[in-house]
Amino acid sequence: MGKILIKTPEQIAWIRKAGKLTAQTLDMIGQYIRPGVSTLELDNIMNTFILSNWWTSACIDYLGNNKWGKWATAYTRCTCISLNDVICHGVPRADELLKEGDILNIDVTTIVDGYFGDASRMYTVGEVSEQAKKVIAVAKKSWEIGIAQVRPGNHFGNIGYEISKYAESQWCSVVREYTGHGVWVQFHEEPYVYHKAERNSWPKMQAGMIFTIEPMINLGKFATKLDRDNWTVRTKDGSLSAQWEHTILVTETGYEIMTKA
Ligand code: MF3
Ligand code: CO
Ligand code: CO
Repeated sequence: MGKILIKTPEQIAWIRKAGKLTAQTLDMIGQYIRPGVSTLELDNIMNTFILSNWWTSACIDYLGNNKWGKWATAYTRCTCISLNDVICHGVPRADELLKEGDILNIDVTTIVDGYFGDASRMYTVGEVSEQAKKVIAVAKKSWEIGIAQVRPGNHFGNIGYEISKYAESQWCSVVREYTGHGVWVQFHEEPYVYHKAERNSWPKMQAGMIFTIEPMINLGKFATKLDRDNWTVRTKDGSLSAQWEHTILVTETGYEIMTKA
């Protein structure tokens, strides 16, 4: 792993502002989730909301900084909306309509005065299956267990160690190719936070570091496949997938969640 930046109090304050707008966007969109709405309509509502708060989305025109290889074309939408078997980076579309029983992740990253705030949550459309409820709950608990590992002196690897230990005990799997990441005046930077890792591996956390924890948990196997749009990532076996994300600051005594309203 390369150098991990320690943020100053002023930089932290800006990231907290970006995180707040991100969380407010995720709160606001909840009321619009219903059968028949298109993912592009949801995306447009969130874009209008962010712009009306005077700031912008980090996703529009983003070229990708994926250490597993550059994506071919820039992202065009404001948010990522990932339905059912889509793991992440689902591209909102006019012809993709929500229907009863769908589960979806909405991932929002705002830029406030140059600083980034990145978070995502799961939403459900009407009544969903027991399997859907299970994968959402296992992902949420894995994420909370991972966040609880954040404190100065603890190894980054223990986040992924605890996440994968729990998720696998529930017969779910942890996606390997996409990770948590540092955020600041860049969308993705060091540290890359693995959601499956060896105990006590990777460097130690220090107060002032800021990064996301965003485990992607599949009901089936962990293998992924990329759609022809070069963005949408799905489970290879077609099983359901769920994800939750916060941007987290390491404090002197533990952590602070930066993406809260
Ligand atoms: N918000 C995503 C993450 O958690 C990245 C989205 S990149 C985009 O890292 F271009 F697809 F928006
Ligand atoms: Co992220
Ligand atoms: Co995100």
